[in-house]
Amino acid sequence: MSQLLIQGGRRLDGEVRVQGAKNSVLPILAATLLTGDTVLLGNCPHLRDVEASIQILRTLGCDARWEAEGLAVDTSRMDGCAISDALMREMRSSAIFLGAILARCGQAEISYPGGCELGPRPIDLHLAGLRSLGVEIQDAGGILRCRAARLRGREIVLSFPSVGATENLMLAACGAEGTTSICNAAREPEITDLQNFLNVCGARVSGGGSSTVVVEGGRKLHGGAYTVMPDRIVAATYLCAAAAAGGTALLRDAREQHLSTVTAVLRQAGCDIVSDQAGIACVCQRRLRAVRTVRTAPYPGFPTDAQAVLMASLLRSRGATVFEENIFENRYRHVDELVRMGADIQVSGRTAVVTGVETLQGAPVRCTDLRGGAALCVAALAAEGETRVMEIGHIDRGYESMERDLRALGACVRRTEAEA
Ligand code: EPZ
Repeated sequence: MSQLLIQGGRRLDGEVRVQGAKNSVLPILAATLLTGDTVLLGNCPHLRDVEASIQILRTLGCDARWEAEGLAVDTSRMDGCAISDALMREMRSSAIFLGAILARCGQAEISYPGGCELGPRPIDLHLAGLRSLGVEIQDAGGILRCRAARLRGREIVLSFPSVGATENLMLAACGAEGTTSICNAAREPEITDLQNFLNVCGARVSGGGSSTVVVEGGRKLHGGAYTVMPDRIVAATYLCAAAAAGGTALLRDAREQHLSTVTAVLRQAGCDIVSDQAGIACVCQRRLRAVRTVRTAPYPGFPTDAQAVLMASLLRSRGATVFEENIFENRYRHVDELVRMGADIQVSGRTAVVTGVETLQGAPVRCTDLRGGAALCVAALAAEGETRVMEIGHIDRGYESMERDLRALGACVRRTEAEA
């Protein structure tokens, strides 16, 4: 298993281009099924989760290959409507394919995605919405067998602004007769990116970024070329890396309007951050100070995906910061590993209190999940000595090359293969 060896205690000074957004390209890859044509995705990140999606497309009879300009996907010869249990287990968010398969084929079969490191990952909101569009769903033995002779558009009200449920229903609604309104929809920028992709392919979707997304169904979609938005959580990660280590970081292509709650907190902590259409520059010259309570919430609130990396950047701040994790049940698994490096963090239920310490010590630590793993890398930059970050397969799900990007920012990082 690969590991990252990180030498801490160096200030950063560098520039990195922020990769395409994992959480945008995954639903867009599912959406390619609606076109029955060829799509070219520019700025598509090379990630484990993207490879898992490519495997799913290929098992459905589609073709996907990397080209110089990006990822070319041809779904014209789709000949299947089932996703294997193994592939579902490889990536929990594969449930996002359900709506698109149903819109294209009228039937679909997937295994229950089940839980992941963050806790249970229910899809009850997805299934309730699909049923209201006319989908019959049998749930037996961990397998979901879905049939939809005809999908009919209608108003759907989500009890929680679920990102995945909003995306799944947008895709199913493209195949429904009539208009679908998704109320209390998720407002994340990735929803707007999916809407923009669908409209490039001939759909008529509006309201992305607001609480009501409207889909005019029954339109014939076609292929096209689309450039995926930059990854706002990767950008947040590298801003927190600069905050943790001190120094300067320039993030090209990052869009501050997508992570304004994160930059607001980092400014509170004492970072100087400026941005323009080219990207975001972060300068951290002095020891950070603790900030007001950080509560994670659906967009435009503070993103749950940035909770761990922000926590890591505040481990040596003056004072104490309270975190409240309101989205996932089990999203403090990185805390024990940070404590091994000398952090002072007290967790009680959804609350974590981080009290700044003078120094952190490099240590052997183990990734527990994608963003928790990223947090270990951020903390390692602020620690004295070497940190060995193990089980970095979690990180490779969402970061093209953490070592490449941190080295571009001036860090001393290398990937190594662990002794067997
Ligand atoms: C997406 O997950 C992201 N993943 C997550 O990013 C992100 O943390 C999350 O949105 C919130 O922003 C992708 O886009 C691939 P939700 P998703 O449906 O769609 C509950 C990362 O690190 N819920 O908004 O699964 C659910 O249990 C990943 O990149 C239901 O109860 O998020 C959770 O507590 C991690 N029933 C909350 O809602 C449902 O049917 C948020 O889930 C669906 C969700």
